[in-house]
Amino acid sequence: MTDLDSLQTEALAEIDSVRDVDALESLRIRFLGKKGLLTEQLKALGKLPRDSRPAAGQKINRIKSRVQQAVEEKKSRLQESVLHSRLSSETLDITLPGRRQNLGSLHPVTRILTRIREYFLQHGFAVVEGPEVEDEFHNFEALNIPAHHPARAMHDTFYFGDNLLLRTHTSSVQIRLMQHQAPPMRVIAPGRVYRCDSDPTHSPMFHQVEGLLVDEQVSFADLKSTLIKFLQVFFEDENLPIRFRPSYFPFTEPSAEIDVAMVDSESGDIRWLEVIGCGMVHPAVFEKVGIDADRYRGYAFGMGVERLAMLRYRIDDLRLFFDNDLRFLQQFA
Ligand code: FA5
Ligand code: MG
Repeated sequence: MTDLDSLQTEALAEIDSVRDVDALESLRIRFLGKKGLLTEQLKALGKLPRDSRPAAGQKINRIKSRVQQAVEEKKSRLQESVLHSRLSSETLDITLPGRRQNLGSLHPVTRILTRIREYFLQHGFAVVEGPEVEDEFHNFEALNIPAHHPARAMHDTFYFGDNLLLRTHTSSVQIRLMQHQAPPMRVIAPGRVYRCDSDPTHSPMFHQVEGLLVDEQVSFADLKSTLIKFLQVFFEDENLPIRFRPSYFPFTEPSAEIDVAMVDSESGDIRWLEVIGCGMVHPAVFEKVGIDADRYRGYAFGMGVERLAMLRYRIDDLRLFFDNDLRFLQQFA
């Protein structure tokens, strides 16, 4: 039999110096495998004299389990260092800032619309809506603007032909309402309107909020106080500079337009910006919708929502509201 002690020393030294798991495995096979050096020693026991076999067998088994243990220990140390090097090469920096989720926000025009709607709801007005694609009757004729009336030229209408058009104002909703409902009534009608028009205070699509109040005792003073009070609350300013200017609409008599002073951001000059058209419902309109003009009076108004937004947010070109530039829109979030 080979010298068992030196076999053990050799095995332990090799295990100690091995550097990776695969090499360790082939070492294990070389010493402990079916045909391994130590296994061979056990098989060779039979060649020893009978009485020295037990001692030699015990010794071989002791060495086998020593070596076995050394292999296990080395194996777990090698696996640990593999794990360590993996962990240090695959670093995850948890202090890096995360990806931000952008929250959307309401469009400034939507905010202004909500503000107007809430004011009038609190003052007993109901909210109604009408179609954006209108016919000439509701947009013009019933409002006392017959086919060749010069007022049609003021509206820069988008026509579809066939009597259809994009409504140029929300006053068409007044007609639809009065056709189907008996007085008294007190409503607002917010919505989009369209005119072939574009400059810093005009856009081809914009919003109006129509107002209509019909009852037996209604005067121009009611109209005036309602709108002045609304503007003061809307702009949170009791000393708001407001101007009522006599005007003309075929569907109201008398008629007025309301201007609010706007301070020019560059020169500091004051200029008046028209925000509302209004007046007392013309008897000819009542007649068209079958309301008794001797018994009922009404006032009506139509306000420009983007104009109110311009003033409230101090924007000097209302077309900015529709450019969809996030740098602009995010300022209102
Ligand atoms: C009208 O549209 C009338 N229907 C208002 C009215 C209703 C009068 C009821 C009497 C009774 P006007 O064309 O002036 O009127 O428009 C009303 C408001 O809409 C204007 O004061 C202005 O604030 C706004 N406006 C008009 N055109 C534009 C436009 N192109 N872009 C943005 N705002 C506009
Ligand atoms: Mg006008």
